[in-house]
Amino acid sequence: MRFVLPKGRLFRDSIEILKKAGIELKSPENRELIVRNGRYELLLARSFDVPVYVEHGVDIGIAGSDVVEERRSDVLIPLELPFGKCRLSLAMLGENLVSVEEMDGFRIATKYPSLARRFFESKGVEVEVIKLHGSIELAPKIGIADAIVDIVETGNTLRANGLVEVEKIMDVSALLLVNRISQKTQFKEINELVLKIKGVIKDGS
Ligand code: PRP
Repeated sequence: MRFVLPKGRLFRDSIEILKKAGIELKSPENRELIVRNGRYELLLARSFDVPVYVEHGVDIGIAGSDVVEERRSDVLIPLELPFGKCRLSLAMLGENLVSVEEMDGFRIATKYPSLARRFFESKGVEVEVIKLHGSIELAPKIGIADAIVDIVETGNTLRANGLVEVEKIMDVSALLLVNRISQKTQFKEINELVLKIKGVIKDGS
């Protein structure tokens, strides 16, 4: 069975919950991207790519609901996991705060162009979206964007950069993802895994 996990923040918690559910995956060493442990294979990917790998044939993955929604991946989501909790928010510099409705013509910097577009479309507000790959908070500070759409966890990064939340766009959580075909061909094994993880979540709550 093949698993794909994101290299970033969710990695430790993902390995941990799978271990508690009886799946021992070996952590990679020396920049390895695939590690085998008996019947299990662990693939390491960038967080935004995890749902893409699952959609295209990797059996199981763990990714944030932010990237799953952004990619609109065609995967099964049997479980929400009890970590990776944060929110996707619209934020801007505190000194020139306006409401969403007043953002017509704004430039919005984000790693989530699709979610940002969908959010502003739902409000009937026309904006220009600037896709960046990280350190989004920099963009309004140096004046290349009027606002950002980004992940907020503790709020420290926003505060440190003089930004304030205008509106929450969505709550985010880690999700268990399953490939549609694997769910049929490995029905028993995958259902057992889902039940075991459910048990781990229940015991921990
Ligand atoms: C994420 C996110 C924010 C920050 C939010 O960035 O994009 O910048 O964490 O967390 P906080 O509310 O607890 O401060 P990440 O560290 O993943 O790096 P990035 O800027 O390269 O995306």
